[in-house]
Amino acid sequence: MSHPLLKVVVLLSGNGSNLQALIDYQSQPDCQYKIVKVIANKPEAYGLVRAKQSQIPAVLIDHTHYQRREDFEQALINEIDQEPPGLVVLAGFMRILTPLFTEHYIGKMLNIHPSLLPKYPGLNTHQRALDAGDRLHGLSIHFVTSELDGGPVILQATLSIQPGLNADSLQKKVHQLEHQAYPLAVQYYAQGQFELKNNQAWYKNQPLMTPLQLSER
Ligand code: GRF
Repeated sequence: MSHPLLKVVVLLSGNGSNLQALIDYQSQPDCQYKIVKVIANKPEAYGLVRAKQSQIPAVLIDHTHYQRREDFEQALINEIDQEPPGLVVLAGFMRILTPLFTEHYIGKMLNIHPSLLPKYPGLNTHQRALDAGDRLHGLSIHFVTSELDGGPVILQATLSIQPGLNADSLQKKVHQLEHQAYPLAVQYYAQGQFELKNNQAWYKNQPLMTPLQLSER
């Protein structure tokens, strides 16, 4: 018996290369999710073009049209919940979210962050890793809670920082890893393997003590 596909809404602000990776993975015969809508908060977000090219409904909700953060978030919720999804995926969505939004989708929202959390929440993660002299860097995929980049991490991918890398080249490497990691995490979620219970991530019905690791190929 085949399961219905998990409905996914993707939120983004920019290029949308992670959206593209998520779209491309849908052509795998065993893919268990379907992106039903893409929402951007910026008119110039190239991710909107990517969505349209793949016949996915693409919606702009421009945050500058709202005075209060909560009003913007309520507009997002109204749009998303027209066809309530099983998962909301943040893919380069550059707005800080209040509990109004994070609580509404608690356990049903993932984010990808370009660092090995809990290191370097926030911006400029690649430069910060270089400045700290780190040997390892990477990305984290985590459940979204009200704490910025602070929810339980489910999957990480790690790479070693080779001499001579700068913030740009490091960012490119992390981005490539993101494109492998995010579709897998969403697929595992769609298979019911990841859950959030009492602010803790679970994997295959067990508390997840350390995030799953995807190694550099
Ligand atoms: C990625 O680096 C992601 O980790 C961060 O925002 C970036 C989005 O890139 N949250 P793209 O728009 O998917 O190309």
